[in-house]
Amino acid sequence: MTSQPADLILVLESDDSSRAALARELSSRLDAPLVHADQVSDEREGALRLVVRDDAIELREASMKPRRGMTIDFASLDLRTGSGGLSRKQPIARAFGEKVNTIIDATAGTGQDAALLAALGYQVTAIERSAVLFEMLDDAFTRAMRDATFARAIGDRLRFVHGDAREMLPELAAPDAVYVDPMFPPKKRASALPRKEIQLLRRLVGDDDDAAELFDMAKRTARKRVVVKRPSHAPPLGREPSLTFQGKLVRYDVYLIT
Ligand SMILES: C[S@@+](CC[C@H](N)C(=O)[O-])C[C@H]1O[C@@H](n2cnc3c(N)ncnc32)[C@H](O)[C@@H]1O
Repeated sequence: MTSQPADLILVLESDDSSRAALARELSSRLDAPLVHADQVSDEREGALRLVVRDDAIELREASMKPRRGMTIDFASLDLRTGSGGLSRKQPIARAFGEKVNTIIDATAGTGQDAALLAALGYQVTAIERSAVLFEMLDDAFTRAMRDATFARAIGDRLRFVHGDAREMLPELAAPDAVYVDPMFPPKKRASALPRKEIQLLRRLVGDDDDAAELFDMAKRTARKRVVVKRPSHAPPLGREPSLTFQGKLVRYDVYLIT
């Protein structure tokens, strides 16, 4: 299981005692030293920083200005029904369809797709193997659920768990569908570098080179279908899918279990 990058430090940027306690807990759980922001030693300059702020946990590099790193935030989720963010006509909703009730999201990442699926009415268990990302998710989700509108939209339909989905899928109750959205290598000749956030995520979790193995396990576990999210330009993860739903930049390949 990927636990955490070798060189990680915890930094506390809050005067709140509960955030200080969280920083100490994270330092112990992630086995990373807790360092005061202005006391980072030279040999730790290259380390990734996990910064505990009042309003978020921010992942950033030493060269980044405060608040320019990566945070997880559920507030930007568009919870409007009808033709808004919760439209049943959007490709991801059509890919899972009406007959699916339970979903295991095997690649939780920043949790945005998992939260969208829960808000659309599916019962979702989302698995993330990066210990750092999981802690960021857990903190962001706990804080988001204090908002009444978000809590109403999600209900009790979403939980995040830490682990490697290749190992966990056979142990959990078989879901109707498994969702797989692995990291995808950037386009070789892309002129622009990926956004800083994507680069940070890549530095944290790598390239998911074992996605084919995860896909095989997903097919053995799902009762009705496996849905794979791919960049539009990427080949399918497995053989030709049974169905495909095209979005603007990504598509959803559906593999029906027969
Ligand atoms: C592209 S991101 C997923 C983005 C996600 N759909 C979202 O809405 O933010 C891929 C994530 O899957 C995780 N991952 C890849 N393989 C995994 C596995 N076998 N088990 C658990 N997590 C995995 C990676 O650590 C990474 O965080």
